[in-house]
Amino acid sequence: MHLTLSVIKADIGGYVGHSESHPEVMARATECMAKAKQEGLLIDYHVTKCGDDLELVMTHQQGENNERIHRLAWDTFVSGTEVAKKLKLHGAGQDLLASAFSGNVKGMGPGVAEMEFTERVAETVIIFMADKTSSGAWNMPLYKMFADPFNTIGLVIAANMHCGFSFEVHDVKGSKKITFCTPDEIYDLLVFIGAASRYMVKAVYHRDSKEIAAVSSTQKLAFIAGRYVGKDDPVCIVRSQGEFPAVGEVLEPFASPILVEGWMRGSHMGPLMPVAVCDSTPSRFDGPPRVISLGFQLSGGKLVGPRDMFDDKAFNLARHQANEMADMMRRHGPFEPHRLPLEEMEYTTMPQVMEKLADRFVDID
Ligand code: F6R
Ligand code: MG
Ligand code: MG
Repeated sequence: MHLTLSVIKADIGGYVGHSESHPEVMARATECMAKAKQEGLLIDYHVTKCGDDLELVMTHQQGENNERIHRLAWDTFVSGTEVAKKLKLHGAGQDLLASAFSGNVKGMGPGVAEMEFTERVAETVIIFMADKTSSGAWNMPLYKMFADPFNTIGLVIAANMHCGFSFEVHDVKGSKKITFCTPDEIYDLLVFIGAASRYMVKAVYHRDSKEIAAVSSTQKLAFIAGRYVGKDDPVCIVRSQGEFPAVGEVLEPFASPILVEGWMRGSHMGPLMPVAVCDSTPSRFDGPPRVISLGFQLSGGKLVGPRDMFDDKAFNLARHQANEMADMMRRHGPFEPHRLPLEEMEYTTMPQVMEKLADRFVDID
């Protein structure tokens, strides 16, 4: 069966502050999704949240970038925003940057990851969703999953994976894309994806079968709005098992927390903490950034699941380490490398201060 799996998300109001999504907003979204399923547009859906982001997971047969699916997501966010406004949630409708829907939600605020494929005999997918960070946060985890044999032993010992994977990388500032084949080109690849605020892994493909293996959202809210309106809080879909990394290989990168950009006011580096859905409630200094992962088996497009994959004691140490890293970073207060470098601050809170002081800067003799 040929299917499309779409994950479309938006922050349409926080409860309390930017720390969580309100159950009534999620209930409204569920109503909208149920109606679309009843009408036959969706095969199945799952509504969840990561922090203050409302996440719509949908299966259908309309293909990627489909106007009806994108309109459904947009209308769901608009409808949820009505509830958020009624409850006076914080930042109600925050990510709906356009005044009206115009064919595709990309470029209008919401984040989008979609993939089209023929469902395998057993189709295992893991969906990652993050809050208080930006799309580049997936670069290192995707690299580890699909190109690092210290993470994914299958690259070495599984015949169906030994050929490697290709990475489609987007330059989100230059609006260009390029594809690298691994393992041959890992050094070239790393030159770019190591700069995760500009170069982002958009998709990964199996080199032999050409099958799509992973896809991420790379929408940059600051570029769309031209100013800071919240971080992108990205999503990523990964196919698993068989010719793709096993579930444990897909989750393994998150066992060693890394520093990502985001956190308070989208202007800081902080650890990405893997948590269960119920713990995706960034509170300390509006963070630290969180990532959740939901696992599904697909059956004729039905979403069998989810299993809350980080709701596992094996990730306790990673959470503990992330909290230690958070302490270490917080010690720097307003200093780099906790605070983002100037170039990134351009899209956050810095421009007004620079403008105010511009004529007080004089030449050094
Ligand atoms: C980060 C984030 C929060 C807000 C902060 C100020 O992505 O959402 O840290 O930036 O709470 O929020 P406002 O400006 O809405 O009062
Ligand atoms: Mg928010
Ligand atoms: Mg958010």
